[in-house]
Amino acid sequence: MRASSRSIVDPRSETRVADAMVPTHVAIIMDGNGRWAASRHLPRVAGHREGARALRRTIEAAIGCGVSWLTIYAFSSENWRRPAGEVLDLTGLLRHYLRTEVAELNANGVRLRFIGDRSRFDEDIQRDLQTAEHDTAGNARLNLTVALSYGARAEIAAAARAIAEAAQEGRLVASKIDEASFPAFLSTAGIPDPDLVIRTSGEQRLSNFLLWQAAYAELVFLDVLWPDFCRDDFEAALADFARRERRFGARPG
Ligand code: IPE
Ligand code: IPE
Ligand code: MG
Repeated sequence: MRASSRSIVDPRSETRVADAMVPTHVAIIMDGNGRWAASRHLPRVAGHREGARALRRTIEAAIGCGVSWLTIYAFSSENWRRPAGEVLDLTGLLRHYLRTEVAELNANGVRLRFIGDRSRFDEDIQRDLQTAEHDTAGNARLNLTVALSYGARAEIAAAARAIAEAAQEGRLVASKIDEASFPAFLSTAGIPDPDLVIRTSGEQRLSNFLLWQAAYAELVFLDVLWPDFCRDDFEAALADFARRERRFGARPG
């Protein structure tokens, strides 16, 4: 199991989970911004703005807990179906955060990667995504992958297409394609599989997120809305993970 040994405090039970297993890779479905805003009679964009603050806290928490890979679901391929005004708000916030946050992330040793269909974003955003990846490529403290215009089914279909083309052109032998070689064709090539997937807002589904990669991830569903997500919630999810027994299909030990 890819995990390092560390201690975490479980704030809910107030017990110290001694020498707990910290997941190497945590993936988060950041959900509930709209409901957070609605409960305060605010426009949905206020929830998305507050959600960005929660993300900042989460990055700090991940670094503090010794998590070295963090993947966040920020915008799904299906989210383009939302009303044009909300899509504009979301892409506007993305543009803003790329311009204002990347320098600080860089200074804190965060390496940024983006997965998803970036060709659907305006050209200036595509440029900023590329610059952010390039400028932070030498960092290793936290590997932060942001899923933008991402959908796992599209990702898997694209991998199948690339494999078919390579086979057709004689660059690849079909019989060599297996579980070990297939992930190299996914947008997450080189990134370890997530050990833990957290979803906020009480919904209990994956919504087309990392369907291949999360095959054996532990799932934690939290009732907290994403804008309220704080370090205690992150540590509680890690403590929950530490109590799970991962079997990977083998007999219980
Ligand atoms: C998550 O919050 C952010 C995105 C999907 C972009 P939502 O906007 O889905 O919030 P709810 O689920 O409507 O509360
Ligand atoms: C999943 O949330 C996508 C992100 C968090 C970016 P959604 O709110 O879009 O998912 P559904 O529609 O409830 O499944
Ligand atoms: Mg939602």
